[in-house]
Amino acid sequence: MKAVVVRSSAELAVVDAPEPVPGRGQVLVDVDAIGAGYVDVMARRGEYAYFPGVGSVPGLEVVGRVAAVGPDVPEGLVGRRVLALPAFGGYAEKVVTEADRVLTVPGSIDAVDAVAAGVNAMVAEIALHRVGATAGDRVLVRGAGGGIGVLATQIARARGAEVTAVTSAPARGARLRDLGAAHIVDRTRPATAGSDDDSAPAGETYDVVVDTVAGPDLADHLALLRPNGRYILCGGVGGAPEVASLEPLLRDFHRSPTLFAFSLNSVAPEDLALSWKRIVALLEEGRLSAVIDRRFPLTEADAALRWVESGKPFGKVVLLPR
Ligand SMILES: NC(=O)c1ccc[n+]([C@@H]2O[C@H](COP(=O)([O-])OP(=O)(O)OC[C@H]3O[C@@H](n4cnc5c(N)ncnc54)[C@H](OP(=O)(O)O)[C@@H]3O)[C@@H](O)[C@H]2O)c1
Repeated sequence: MKAVVVRSSAELAVVDAPEPVPGRGQVLVDVDAIGAGYVDVMARRGEYAYFPGVGSVPGLEVVGRVAAVGPDVPEGLVGRRVLALPAFGGYAEKVVTEADRVLTVPGSIDAVDAVAAGVNAMVAEIALHRVGATAGDRVLVRGAGGGIGVLATQIARARGAEVTAVTSAPARGARLRDLGAAHIVDRTRPATAGSDDDSAPAGETYDVVVDTVAGPDLADHLALLRPNGRYILCGGVGGAPEVASLEPLLRDFHRSPTLFAFSLNSVAPEDLALSWKRIVALLEEGRLSAVIDRRFPLTEADAALRWVESGKPFGKVVLLPR
């Protein structure tokens, strides 16, 4: 079968690899669509601690059909359409993963849509669930044009919140507005600039901030929390958070701010399954749309990851094995 391995911190390569065999408690999935995200860029660069390194296959999410099961896995799973979350190995025509890392994809949802929602939707959904984002809350989404951000914007809106999306260009802002953002902050312009009628008013504060960016501006965004505000840090495309950034939390303790740090790695399989059910319901009700930036053949995974790395995609980049 075809698979894609990390050749160096700067390059991926297509190889012919033996078909994996499911072991005890595992399933083999015949892959129809693969999610490519910033986390794969970090894996390639050697910046993702869990990735085994050069020679290994990246890829943490695929949609396909269960083709075979290993010992101790019910035969009834064979043929089921699933979103599979392997611990890497996803950039391939077939992948083996633990049976408790597969989630059912109903026939009503296309494979590309399912993988475009995938992990990103679970990050966004569980993050908003953990911070208790609710009707009437003002929610700020940093990295709103990204894979997680476009889903966080929609899910926050579906929960009844008033969403402000931070993005980098008017065209991206217009698309986020279509996805339910009430206000747009253009991160490339000074905070006070912009008199468009959808710009967030200067000095606005928030009940909830969903942040996939971190980086040097983290402290400025922590300072935007309202009393009892909740800040959930889910990623770091702008650079790793620095301890000094947390100073506003201590300085403003009398306003009772809370910082959540959140990684899907720490979520139990049963909680992933509950979140995925809520996401499937939102997709089927038309309250959530998968946002697909581009599709690439699996054999062009190297170019796809460079595109992800450029920061230009709006939504999800998807690889197709055939
Ligand atoms: N918590 C978890 O379990 C989990 C799971 C998967 C991924 N992640 C992490 O979450 C982060 C986001 O992932 P993603 O797939 O959404 O990334 P992505 O698709 O690359 O999107 C990130 C977005 O952030 C904005 N951005 C980029 N550089 C920026 C900068 N320097 N300052 C401010 N904004 C910037 C860009 O949007 P605009 O140009 O529109 O502003 C970009 O589209 C990554 O760090 C990833 O590793 C976390």
